[in-house]
Amino acid sequence: MDKIVIDGGRPLKGRVRISGAKNAALPILISALLTEGWNTYTNVPNLKDIQSTLHLLTNLGARIEIDKDTVRIDAGGLCKHEAPYDLVRKMRASVLVLGPLLARLKKARVSLPGGCAIGARPINLHLKGLARLGASIELKHGYVEASAESLKGNEIYFDIATVTGTENLMMAAVLAEGTTVLRNAAREPEIVAFADVLNQMGAKIEGAGTSIITVQGVSALKPVSVKIIPDRIEAGTFMVAAALTKGDVTLTDCEPGDLEAVMHKLKLTGAAIKVEDKCIRVVGTDQIASVDVKTLPYPGFPTDMQAQFMVLMSVAGGLSIISETIFENRFIHVSELQRMGADITISGDTALVKGIPHLSGAPVMATDLRASASLVLAGLIARNTTEVHRVYHLDRGYEALENKFARLGAAIKRVKV
Ligand code: EPZ
Repeated sequence: MDKIVIDGGRPLKGRVRISGAKNAALPILISALLTEGWNTYTNVPNLKDIQSTLHLLTNLGARIEIDKDTVRIDAGGLCKHEAPYDLVRKMRASVLVLGPLLARLKKARVSLPGGCAIGARPINLHLKGLARLGASIELKHGYVEASAESLKGNEIYFDIATVTGTENLMMAAVLAEGTTVLRNAAREPEIVAFADVLNQMGAKIEGAGTSIITVQGVSALKPVSVKIIPDRIEAGTFMVAAALTKGDVTLTDCEPGDLEAVMHKLKLTGAAIKVEDKCIRVVGTDQIASVDVKTLPYPGFPTDMQAQFMVLMSVAGGLSIISETIFENRFIHVSELQRMGADITISGDTALVKGIPHLSGAPVMATDLRASASLVLAGLIARNTTEVHRVYHLDRGYEALENKFARLGAAIKRVKV
């Protein structure tokens, strides 16, 4: 169990390259199950969740080759249809194997992921959608047991615009007989990237990025060679860090078009933002203005940026109202920020953040991926030393975050405990 130790107060300056997107890579790597032959994926981030995914795919019978940020996968030898509890509980996105296993093997036995720190995280919408395509779904001893003689296209309506639900059903539909229409589909950039990859494999998907996605079933897909898109949440995290430390940071290899909501809110706080092609430069301001934020499905303000933005608001000049509408328990970072002196009051799904002049360093504990990022951000500006414990949460979604911050001038190091 490592910890990250930070001496706060240094402005971040310089350039940082944004890694490939975790939430794009996970479904794309899993989609290799839909075909035989070698798929090549580049710009794959080196994350715990990626390692867990590759471990799961190997368990199912796929062959994997890794060379730095290039991953090759051949699922020609796919022979198992089970995703066990000890793998799924570590990474809930493992439920994404349901769609491709049903499409390829017409059966799947996947552990129910269970809840996590930020909420119950049910997968009822995934299962309802699969049933609409003709799968029989049974829940037994904590597992989903799914099977289908054949999958047939159908109309599916998502009560909630679920990101992985949309991805799971896209994979189940691409090899189904006939046409599937996904209504109230998620519109995230990762969905658009995912549809692009599936179409390069020979799928016939239209409408990705809108709330209505149409999938015409085809008989087979072919292997593909693709580059993973940049991680908009890692980018947003560094943009907030630049504003927070009153620094001057240029992000490279990112996709500004995926960050409109975050850029809009950061400009309102007073940060100067300049976009040049695939780069974003953020220059902080001395007087951080308090701004209200409500998390929403894309293109609204991303829930994965809520904790990070809250740190900025904790040292802003006034009162900020932050509403979390996506997950029912995504304020766990608040109690740790309060231990650093933050003045935050929670009422239901809303946090009232009263800006104070500075935070004070303290030993704090990470509880989930984005909460741990917010505690590192808080340490960058807190007086004295902050120790963030249980950073394995951080390693799930950020590639060597402390090294990237250190290269920007932060006094930060990882300590083995
Ligand atoms: C994806 O999770 C992301 N993970 C999350 O990122 C992200 O926070 C989330 O989308 C929202 O943008 C990946 O892409 C791997 P949802 P997902 O299904 O798909 C409810 C991170 O930090 N719901 O869009 O699991 C659900 O409880 C992670 O990188 C149902 O009720 O999220 C939530 O309230 C955290 N039934 C809402 O919908 C279902 O069957 C949105 O969840 C599915 C979802």
